[in-house]
Amino acid sequence: MAKKGRVFSGARPTGRQHLGNYLGAIQNYVALQDDYDCVYCIVDVHALTTVETTQDLRKNTFEMALDWLAAGIRPEESILFIQSHVPEVMELHTYLSMVTALGKLTDLPTFKEKVAQQPENVNYGLLGYPVLMTADIVLYKTDVVPVGVDQAPHVEFAREIVRSFNYRYNTKVLIEPQVKHTEILKVLGIDGKAKMSKSLNNHIELAATPQETSARVMEMVTDPARMKRTDPGNPEVCNVFSMHKIFSPAEEVNMIDAECRRAGIGCVDCKKRFAANLNQHLEPFRAKRAELASQPDHVADVLNNGAERARVIAQETIKEVREAMQLP
Ligand code: TRP
Repeated sequence: MAKKGRVFSGARPTGRQHLGNYLGAIQNYVALQDDYDCVYCIVDVHALTTVETTQDLRKNTFEMALDWLAAGIRPEESILFIQSHVPEVMELHTYLSMVTALGKLTDLPTFKEKVAQQPENVNYGLLGYPVLMTADIVLYKTDVVPVGVDQAPHVEFAREIVRSFNYRYNTKVLIEPQVKHTEILKVLGIDGKAKMSKSLNNHIELAATPQETSARVMEMVTDPARMKRTDPGNPEVCNVFSMHKIFSPAEEVNMIDAECRRAGIGCVDCKKRFAANLNQHLEPFRAKRAELASQPDHVADVLNNGAERARVIAQETIKEVREAMQLP
């Protein structure tokens, strides 16, 4: 079947992925493979803008690749690779920087946030982050970029850079990418308040054991107004209930909805049920992940093969770009 075009997405190597990554991004990456030619990239160079040491970079990249593959990224079909393995992106980044207004970069909310987060490390790469991201996207002649809401302005920015480049050099070689929003729901952490994230340590890792997962689920905050077992609860404000809606069968969700409201079921039972359903859902993922983890050479081959295929596309684009720019 003919595909609808090319999808590209990237994520920084943050190591083992959690439920928020899974529901917010990975699941979409997997689904998009049915309709698009997909290129998925672990952006290790982008990671350099925020890390002080690179000692965990290889491990984090490997762990993330395991999670993506185990979740259903199909490397025979899609391209999965590590950003720095295709250095053409650095070249394109430099060319694109010449058509990018400095004032626009310093105005981006994401840049300002980073400056506030790491005042002791306001490096040049941090400023160029969206230009490198644009280079990622356009190097692979991308049609569609699936990203969460926080990254949407970056894709909009990429479109502007493409327009400036094409205008400046009177060409059409670069394609303006479309944004596709992936976040259907905001996945909250075990505190039931903040978005699930590793840095807040309010996350549930996909690769955790069933026991670890259950223990983590039992820590989840439910309806804060429900103080005692005999108090009726409100599922609408309960993070555990929102998870049930994703991972539990419809009849069980309906039962919990009704029983919680009349104090028929307590939070402990409710969480035990969620833990069981989640563990069941993740069972095939964990089996596949364990198998991949035991074959690190195979995973390295997959990533190298992805880079080779990515590089073919990248070199073609670079050739066209240099031509358009009339580089001698
Ligand atoms: N900036 C993205 C993030 O922080 C990661 C990223 C890099 C990306 N290059 C990309 C996402 C290209 C989509 C397309 O999550």
